[in-house]
Amino acid sequence: MSKTIVITSGKGGVGKTTVTFGLGTSLSRRGKRVLLIDMENGLRGLEKIMGSDETLVFDASDIVGGKCEPMDAIYPCLSIPGLYLLPAPASPEEGLTREQIRRLTAILASYFDYLLIDCPAGISNEFRVSVFAAQSALVVVNPDPIGVRAGKSVRDLLLKSGISEIRLVINRFDPERFLEYGFFEDLDAVIDAAGIRLIAVVPEDPNLLRAAANGKPCPPGLPGAMAFDRLAARVDGEAIPVIIG
Ligand SMILES: Nc1ncnc2c1ncn2[C@@H]1O[C@H](COP(=O)(O)OP(=O)(O)O)[C@@H](O)[C@H]1O
Ligand SMILES: [Mg+2]
Repeated sequence: MSKTIVITSGKGGVGKTTVTFGLGTSLSRRGKRVLLIDMENGLRGLEKIMGSDETLVFDASDIVGGKCEPMDAIYPCLSIPGLYLLPAPASPEEGLTREQIRRLTAILASYFDYLLIDCPAGISNEFRVSVFAAQSALVVVNPDPIGVRAGKSVRDLLLKSGISEIRLVINRFDPERFLEYGFFEDLDAVIDAAGIRLIAVVPEDPNLLRAAANGKPCPPGLPGAMAFDRLAARVDGEAIPVIIG
């Protein structure tokens, strides 16, 4: 996939921040330099799951406001070499404009192999700003009808914004619950309903929840981490099959 990837969803709470961090971690373990850009102004979810929320001085608004150099607001993730964070502005009022984020990502692109933009859900102003800076998009959905329909709406918005490289991440997949609910006949039906090419299925894994609560990545070898390793391989251009579970 292209270098600057926005991670989006129609609904909130489906796992965008988890996917951004998991994908970033796995890409870094492949030897890539990865910058995670948090666009959730005021919420700053990424730094919490990266475990770095107490040491951050500058954020994206300080760069565009001329208060610091870009590299002053970029923080290494201490537990994962190659992974970096650009924090979101601390308050919603300090959000960046589309021109500011595009200029900033153009500069940062020369320092990193991938820029992953963790975008707020839905169609807020921050969504539009995030999408403006990206060349490709991952749409995260949980396999339920409302979420999948919202994912399709986001796909339409992305296409309208000129992003055509769009891939689907089905997150929190639990085969037993999936069959029990019976919303969809199979995963192909989810993909058809979203109208987006599949790139990964991430299982429901309590280790992801636990790791996030402790501000750490999911330990390698556990199902959640392995799903992100496969996603990273595909994002990085390896032609490996999508594996479910
Ligand atoms: N595959 C998964 N398995 C278990 N828990 C998950 C999974 N993906 C996300 N979660 C949990 O779901 C909650 C919402 O995820 P988050 O990434 O913050 O969503 P979003 O950024 O879309 O709002 C978090 O508590 C997270 O740990
Ligand atoms: Mg989030």
